[in-house]
Amino acid sequence: MIYLKTDEEIELLRENNILVSQTLAEVGRHIKPGVTTKYLDKVAEDFIRSHGAIPSCLGYEGYPAATCISVNDTVVHGIPSDKIVIKEGDIVSVDLCTFMKGFNGDSAYTFAVGEVSDEVRRLLDVTKEALYRGTAQAKAGNRVGDISAAVQDYVESFGYGVVRELEGHGLGHKMHEEPGVPNYGARGRGPLLKEGMVICIEPMITMGSRAIVFERDGWTVRTRDRKPAAHFEFAVAIRKNGPDVLTDFGIIENSLQ
Ligand code: MF3
Ligand code: CO
Repeated sequence: MIYLKTDEEIELLRENNILVSQTLAEVGRHIKPGVTTKYLDKVAEDFIRSHGAIPSCLGYEGYPAATCISVNDTVVHGIPSDKIVIKEGDIVSVDLCTFMKGFNGDSAYTFAVGEVSDEVRRLLDVTKEALYRGTAQAKAGNRVGDISAAVQDYVESFGYGVVRELEGHGLGHKMHEEPGVPNYGARGRGPLLKEGMVICIEPMITMGSRAIVFERDGWTVRTRDRKPAAHFEFAVAIRKNGPDVLTDFGIIENSLQ
């Protein structure tokens, strides 16, 4: 069942996704060599709670933290740990969710720590651009496959891998609603996009092979070849006039300068 949201509900989803954006910016300001991912998780949890929201990843299907923090070859769902120490040249994907006023926010951003290699910089740029290209297809009358194909075609033209096992999703009262939004697929296929739908688009892109492994902790997903992976996610409402992005990467990027 796909739930269509009213304008008022979309504004509550926007409030959540703005808080997620502000939290990602706050975490981004604390990412530097020597800090642990556990510390960054605490920064995020305190920030979310001090703004009157709940970190909805915590306890989700038993997930043990407020954020997922995935470094280098970890694709997604890295569990924050006091043993994972950030160092210069790392890439750090931070994915987090809030819950307030009955709705969820969910977005992710991959940060570069200091100077990263040119090839890693390009992986980040291409993954973010793929998200934008997918988002441009998020309009009423299109189908989910139009988003999927836009992401896949762009990413694969650089020789990068599109992770198949995980996908984007609807967002609302629940963190994960229908429809699923794969990052690969065919134009003109899949569920029809309608005004009032709110979806998260979240390409998970590998520099090498798209093969992944699930670690024994039951959560951590990393690349099989141990090459880096990037993940950007935002929430988009399908409106009369086209895609309405509810997340604000500008908040994150302005705070990095
Ligand atoms: N935020 C993730 C997503 O993009 C979900 C994280 S799984 C959780 O869908 F268990 F941490 F919540
Ligand atoms: Co998501």
